[in-house]
Amino acid sequence: MCGIVGYIGAKDAKDILLNGLEKLEYRGYDSAGIYVMSNEQRGHLFKEKGRIAALKDRVDHSVEANAGIGHTRWATHGEPSVRNAHPHQSTSERFTIVHNGVIENYQEVRDAYLEDIELVSDTDTEIIVQLIAWFAEEEGLATLDAFKKAIVALEGSYAIALIDNTNPDIVYAAKNKSPLLLGKGDGFNVICSDAMAMIKETNQFVELMDKEVAIVSKDSLSIENYAGDVIERDHYIAELDSDDLEKGTYPYYMLKEIDEQPAVMRKLVLKYQDENDHLSIDPKIIDTLLASDRVYIIAAGTSYHAGLVGKKLIEEVAQIPTEVHVSSEFGYNTPLLSEKPFFIFISQSGETADSRQVLVKTNEMKLPSLTVTNVAGSTLSRESDFTLLLHAGPEIAVASTKAYTAQIAVLAILAEVAGLKKGTIKESTLIHDLGIVANAMQTLVDDKDRIEELASEYLSISRNAFYIGRGMDYHVSLEAALKLKEISYVQTEGFAAGELKHGTIALIEDGTPVIAIVTEGKVAGHTRGNLQETKARGAHTMVISMDGLNRPDDQIVIPKVNPLLSPLVSVIPTQLLSYFCSLHRGNDVDKPRNLAKSVTVE
Ligand code: AGP
Ligand code: GLU
Repeated sequence: MCGIVGYIGAKDAKDILLNGLEKLEYRGYDSAGIYVMSNEQRGHLFKEKGRIAALKDRVDHSVEANAGIGHTRWATHGEPSVRNAHPHQSTSERFTIVHNGVIENYQEVRDAYLEDIELVSDTDTEIIVQLIAWFAEEEGLATLDAFKKAIVALEGSYAIALIDNTNPDIVYAAKNKSPLLLGKGDGFNVICSDAMAMIKETNQFVELMDKEVAIVSKDSLSIENYAGDVIERDHYIAELDSDDLEKGTYPYYMLKEIDEQPAVMRKLVLKYQDENDHLSIDPKIIDTLLASDRVYIIAAGTSYHAGLVGKKLIEEVAQIPTEVHVSSEFGYNTPLLSEKPFFIFISQSGETADSRQVLVKTNEMKLPSLTVTNVAGSTLSRESDFTLLLHAGPEIAVASTKAYTAQIAVLAILAEVAGLKKGTIKESTLIHDLGIVANAMQTLVDDKDRIEELASEYLSISRNAFYIGRGMDYHVSLEAALKLKEISYVQTEGFAAGELKHGTIALIEDGTPVIAIVTEGKVAGHTRGNLQETKARGAHTMVISMDGLNRPDDQIVIPKVNPLLSPLVSVIPTQLLSYFCSLHRGNDVDKPRNLAKSVTVE
């Protein structure tokens, strides 16, 4: 969600900032802007509603600049508009900032300090820059002190970059809850919300922690706390290949990422194999998991859906009772916990604010935690006791695909390694099973033409749709429905097949698409029966079944895999149906309306 970039050095700041903002586009935004200091020490502000391409047209490319800050905004306070777009400036135009996050006490701050200041935007952000100016101009504080004093007064989440145009050789930055990295270069330094934004410039990054301030010039990068104590922190090397960030010949990242799933399965096996070719996980993680009496999986959206499958895997294979919770609910309505809980946070980005607020609470309670994430060094990874990486490569499309299947595969590896140690299973079959899964995925992604035809036939004009299933197929139905609604805007429900007749079947009309997922023998007949009930009421029905349980008229038959891993395969046609439905409707597949990739506000 939204993003920040900053640059100070010898190269043209404008181009670096605009390129960086393009790399952050995947996170979701509604407007963007940059502020650059020209080589003649004059500030230039450019803002635009909509895409970065529109901002690029707005920018005066004749300005030569060597310092600047940029922002993609996902509006929380005030409509998306040029006026509300960042950067925001103090009335004197001396101070300019970009901000990600939400200032919860902005009204109180305004009442206490800024009653006489005329604000030009509806944002909470403008309060910050006016407050910095107030402390600097009214109280006479030095810029760094005014910045610190202002952020101490703020409650909420923020990543901020600040330029004082009376000293444009420095960019200041600070953060609380929202992510921000500092990047080190030779004769330049950068600021960014994630490493992808600046990987073209540098791969050396330093994490800025909550309640720290960074002072960045072209030759130096220093961090201190609010009390002024200098903090030494080593940089890390971001292992990102800038080629991974390109679409290549694909029209959309989502299609590329769907296609990458067989390779991700194979890579995961290699990454989690030890020198004896056995699956292996840090014994400290396994011992802590096995010492617990209950697992609590905390996640949002697609990651929550992966968690539902994870529960089944952990309970069946390692026989540990497991609960799955939506993170935005758990933190403020915490259920009665068991005596020895073990928390698993699942998050592709590792930055989801809803999940992080739960982790902050479990850390306060000193409860053990593991983060399953795609992003090494992300906030959730840093702040939990343990991390397992997805090794899926950057996921750029807002709609998550390869991260979902990688999350399930990592949870399967965790469950198997724990089950073997506990003795609840006797032999390892997962390496073999994941190989079969990878082949099955490949068969399905190679069958795109057929799935595109089905998308046209079933979903081209419908306004609503249903996915139904039982057990794991129900969990995949939830994910399939989320995928379809988020990129095609078709109102879709994922439903427990047997529950439909208890009310929701009233929504079935002539032609309503109902897609049943059938991969489990013991409930296959019941699910088919429930599908027939909708057909009798006019539904346009489709079946995605597993080889062995299929019937001649089934539209999609997925290859046979270990039933516990069936979601890894049955989800593939549903991802492709969503992709083609969105494409045919002329939507921006990778950047659906209203959504953000990394949801950094609660
Ligand atoms: C996925 O398609 C969604 N855009 C969304 O539900 C996402 O899974 C959710 O916001 C959680 O994100 P995370 O995995 O990065 O925590
Ligand atoms: N709350 C700020 C605004 O609405 C920042 C939003 C963002 O993080 O992009 O402008």
